[in-house]
Amino acid sequence: MNEVCDIPAALVNLLRDARHVCILTGAGVSAESGVPTFRDAQDGLWAKYEPQDLATPEAFLADPALIWRWYRWRRELVAEAQPNAGHYAIAKLAELVPQVTLITQNVDGLHQRAGSKNVIEFHGNIFEDRCFADGTLHTADDKMEIPTCPDCGADLRPGVVWFGEAIPETASSESYTAASDCDVFLSIGTSSLVYPAAGLADLAKTSGASVVEVNPDPTAHAANFDFIIAGNSGLVMPELIELLAVEPGLE
Ligand code: OAD
Repeated sequence: MNEVCDIPAALVNLLRDARHVCILTGAGVSAESGVPTFRDAQDGLWAKYEPQDLATPEAFLADPALIWRWYRWRRELVAEAQPNAGHYAIAKLAELVPQVTLITQNVDGLHQRAGSKNVIEFHGNIFEDRCFADGTLHTADDKMEIPTCPDCGADLRPGVVWFGEAIPETASSESYTAASDCDVFLSIGTSSLVYPAAGLADLAKTSGASVVEVNPDPTAHAANFDFIIAGNSGLVMPELIELLAVEPGLE
């Protein structure tokens, strides 16, 4: 088997004996599907646009038409994307360990399209439309430049979490419970810069879990991790699944 990246046998054994694996993913997992990340220097979204100009409630109030154009552009880009080998391997992991909790910061729905179940969407979903006034879920009339709420007439907004906004209550509580309960925490394809998501690995570690980072560029938090796999998730995760699937002693 041609190993593309060095995955320690100790990590494979840890996952083999794991009771509950909690996974946090970020934009890096969708990078190999052609969905731009946020902070990668060249092609990251935030390298081209100011987050405060496009991903805050204030920006929406200032120019809802601009925000809707931007999110419709991202929706088209994501709709054309396909899940990659990393997404499929993460879905497969749920068949190999007793319990997996998948928390994603991604709003693209690619984990679900790869077969992952019960995905916790920590930052919402880009294909959802919500009333700006009360957050109720609706289906926007795409013919309208700025769709409005059929109940109250307020503007509808994309169903994602913007800077300065709270994480959806259920997503937040389920994530904290899983991070506190798991015995292995995998942080895959995230820069670990945006809180509260970036605090989940620390919570898992202080709760006794082994914490693992998968990222081609180890993050500023790397020192806190027990294992650092410096590689693309589309290569590392399929290999990890292959190693896990091999009977112990037959490696
Ligand atoms: P970032 O763009 O901050 O970080 C992406 C990370 O993925 C970087 O650390 C890259 O090194 C890594 N990466 C790139 N290609 C990869 C690959 N093929 N496999 C594995 N890792 C790869 O994205 P996030 O950490 O997801 O929030 O950003 C967190 C939040 O900030 C987002 O959810 C969004 C953003 O602003 C909101 O908008 C609220």
